[in-house]
Amino acid sequence: MNIILLGPPGAGKGTQARILVDGRDMIQLSTGDMLREAKDSGSEMGRIVADVMARGDLVTDEIVIGLIREKLAGDKRGGFIFDGFPRTLKQADALAQLLDETGETLDAVIEMQVDDAALVARITARSTCGNCGEVYNDETKPIPADGVCTSCGTSAEFKRRADDNADSLKQRLMEYYKKTSPLIGYYYAKGQLSSVDGLADIDDVRAEIAAILG
Ligand code: AP5
Repeated sequence: MNIILLGPPGAGKGTQARILVDGRDMIQLSTGDMLREAKDSGSEMGRIVADVMARGDLVTDEIVIGLIREKLAGDKRGGFIFDGFPRTLKQADALAQLLDETGETLDAVIEMQVDDAALVARITARSTCGNCGEVYNDETKPIPADGVCTSCGTSAEFKRRADDNADSLKQRLMEYYKKTSPLIGYYYAKGQLSSVDGLADIDDVRAEIAAILG
């Protein structure tokens, strides 16, 4: 099964993708994580994308389509969860073509609906485990009192993202509404779109997604 989690920054795409990886042996393809890894590795591509990401702009279609193409050629396990991809109509068309070429299908597109005020609050309270990437939130899912990640049980290092500040978030939201939100109509017209209430508790969102996927 291959699915897309679609939604603005902070909608909970990464949080739900990690739950699906654990529960269904699926592979999370987060273009944001891939780009951050490139940045941290100091590669040429990482240097090119660092400033773009810090500003909250979108990286070029060519770069992210190239990253996804590589991943689709590898291990498939229980299927792919596209998290943060596609983000433009060009990326959506490219994904359709790539899946076609590899004989795969797109089984569901799940739009996570959250209002802007909640997004700002979530993003500015977010941290992630430096070892396994588990996502925490100062308000709704605080780092455990003993300071050790509950997911990997080893790390006591938690990171905040360079683009999780008010200015970058404003730009990320503008990019979302201008370039990514048209995908809602694109997938609706193809009969592939389902929507969930992303404002609900994490476990309720999980249950809504599970009901859609069957
Ligand atoms: P990316 O890393 O994809 O960031 P994003 O889309 O802005 O999404 P986030 O990771 O910020 O949020 P999320 O929806 O995963 O929420 P999360 O689960 O963490 O992209 C970063 C940048 O990379 C882009 O700006 C761009 O420059 C570039 N890029 C990436 N992909 C690209 C592409 N395809 N094309 C071009 N450029 C690309 O949750 C957020 C917080 O809320 C957490 O603290 C969490 O604990 C909490 N939370 C989650 N769910 C709930 C809930 N139900 N209730 C309460 N709190 C919750």
